[in-house]
Amino acid sequence: MQERLQELQVEAIAKVEAASNLKELNDIRVAYLGKKGPITEVLRGMGKLSAEERPKIGALANEVREAIAQKIEEKQIAMEEAAVQEKLAAEKIDVTLPGRPIKVGNHHPLTKVIEEIEDLFIGMGYQVAEGPEVEKDYYNFEALNLPKGHPARDMQDSFYITEEILLRTHTSPVQARTMEKHEGKGPVKIICPGKVYRRDHDDATHSHQFTQIEGLVIDENIRMSDLKGTLEVFAKRMFGEDREIRLRPSFFPFTEPSVEMDISCKMCGGHGCNVCKGTGWIEILGAGMVHPNVLEMAGFDSNKYSGFAFGMGPERIAMLKYGIDDIRHFYTNDIRFLKQFSRHEG
Ligand code: PHE
Repeated sequence: MQERLQELQVEAIAKVEAASNLKELNDIRVAYLGKKGPITEVLRGMGKLSAEERPKIGALANEVREAIAQKIEEKQIAMEEAAVQEKLAAEKIDVTLPGRPIKVGNHHPLTKVIEEIEDLFIGMGYQVAEGPEVEKDYYNFEALNLPKGHPARDMQDSFYITEEILLRTHTSPVQARTMEKHEGKGPVKIICPGKVYRRDHDDATHSHQFTQIEGLVIDENIRMSDLKGTLEVFAKRMFGEDREIRLRPSFFPFTEPSVEMDISCKMCGGHGCNVCKGTGWIEILGAGMVHPNVLEMAGFDSNKYSGFAFGMGPERIAMLKYGIDDIRHFYTNDIRFLKQFSRHEG
């Protein structure tokens, strides 16, 4: 009997070791340790044993039973552990793999240029001001030293809504409005970005709607040299430190003296090419010292205060900066054009 029990233990343990899944393991458990199993059978036959042998065999049977049960338990834990490991391995995520890019939109190139210019001037202490696109004739023209019938009104063909109301032709009316709000007290230091409208025929360089950024500084002792220095900083930051600027005399009714600013052509380094039409210079903006009439009309004492103003077109700046050859690209919203200004695609 003793032998039989030992044989059973060896046999059962060998089977447990060979078991390859939980079901087999359970079958072994039922076969060896169950009520109809061989160990139970051995125990049943104990009645035939002598009183001396009985406890020995009983103890041995229990030991065998326990040894098999323990082996099954160990094997089961090992199997479960292996299953978990296998699952982990199968579900492993390589966190170093690059993610799938999420397609997001990007800022319109004009918005980018406008924000870049805003940041630059905010860094120099300017505030951003805005005004209405549907504007009074008074702010668009009269308050800027352009009374009704002034020939210079023809420089900016306008969309009139009524006799007194029009779509603003430039951002300069925001100058007039801001000055009025300051009630004759300086300093004023603003830039005003926004849309403007002119009755132009649309072509590669003209659009009936475009954007402008106006700048205005008013304080005591503001001089032409302040304007020049400011514009030089702007041009170099925007187009590169190697750029030069030049101011040419010009005319605007609201500034005196008036100038136009050119920057040296990047394409040819100033020698003359197609982009600069052989001159070596590219016109960027109009500017000047605020006309005393404009100061006075807005309630500033022109003997105490002086100032400068400038106005530029972000389209033109973006075209030069990014080499865009047709202003209409900005408004037709062709995704192939817009995508080129995405952060993700450089
Ligand atoms: N408002 C002018 C224009 O649209 C530009 C400008 C602004 C010129 C300020 C001088 C001073 O042409």
